[in-house]
Amino acid sequence: MCQQFRFLTSALGRGAVAVMTPNTILITGASSGIGAALAKHLAKPGTHLILWGRDESRLADIAQACRQSGAIVTTASVDVSNIEDFKARLLASDTATPLTQAIFNAGLGGTADADRPGEDVARVEAISMVNFVSPIVGATMLCERMAARGGGHIVLIGSVSAYFPLPMAPTYASTKAGLAMFAESLRMRMAKHNVAVTLVSPGFIDTPMSRAFDSPKPFLMTAETFARIIAQRLPSRPANVIVPWQYTVLRALSHALPRALTRAIINRH
Ligand SMILES: NC(=O)c1ccc[n+]([C@@H]2O[C@H](COP(=O)([O-])OP(=O)(O)OC[C@H]3O[C@@H](n4cnc5c(N)ncnc54)[C@H](OP(=O)(O)O)[C@@H]3O)[C@@H](O)[C@H]2O)c1
Repeated sequence: MCQQFRFLTSALGRGAVAVMTPNTILITGASSGIGAALAKHLAKPGTHLILWGRDESRLADIAQACRQSGAIVTTASVDVSNIEDFKARLLASDTATPLTQAIFNAGLGGTADADRPGEDVARVEAISMVNFVSPIVGATMLCERMAARGGGHIVLIGSVSAYFPLPMAPTYASTKAGLAMFAESLRMRMAKHNVAVTLVSPGFIDTPMSRAFDSPKPFLMTAETFARIIAQRLPSRPANVIVPWQYTVLRALSHALPRALTRAIINRH
């Protein structure tokens, strides 16, 4: 609990005053879609939201909405694929305002071009940096600092695509599969340090990312509904959250079926 208190010196010189600091939550990719919706659902008095994205104008609009709900909000334009800058900014932010929760949500989607055999190499690099390298580096840095403070909560936004081979998006699916394994491993490692690690696996959520995906989107859910469910679930620090729930069933089925059958079903669509 000690990280939830800080001491401010009264401007009037009346000495040190103990002030309850807010829950301090970092959300990457807060300028759009799921991150923006989550920010709005987590915004309330007693919460300090640190919202990162690249588009400053969209970030400013979301910050304004969060302030109207009573949150303290700080925004920063951070390109998480610039890994050295990302690390320095994370360190500076956590030093200035120790984080109680970090939601690594920034992500790049997109499917491979249909008119070439492989994927665009530059795109492969970008997706890997944003979806995998940056969240695992960030989570690793923060979990040590949280452990030293007595606890914390790391939230990784994965995808149900981690559980199925996706020939139309090999890099995207594999970054999310890697993130799922990282989450499970880190959770085990950090359990004795009171640092919880939650993997959130969204199905199809209606955001700019999924709108660019030109295929059927079973069980499509709005970002607002998704964020409301996640905001309700996070306080219990669950290991895994899969939303919409139908994908929990599909994941169990995919584990029960022989992999060759799963591949055959996916190849037919
Ligand atoms: N929507 C779905 O159906 C779905 C399903 C499964 C998983 N997910 C996951 O959910 C997360 C959020 O996706 P979304 O659907 O909300 O997509 P989105 O609306 O496209 O938002 C993506 C967010 O990531 C940020 N971002 C991308 N590249 C970045 C970079 N290099 N540096 C910093 N920020 C960067 C974007 O910032 P700017 O816009 O400011 O550049 C934006 O805020 C992703 O991890 C995604 O893989 C989404």
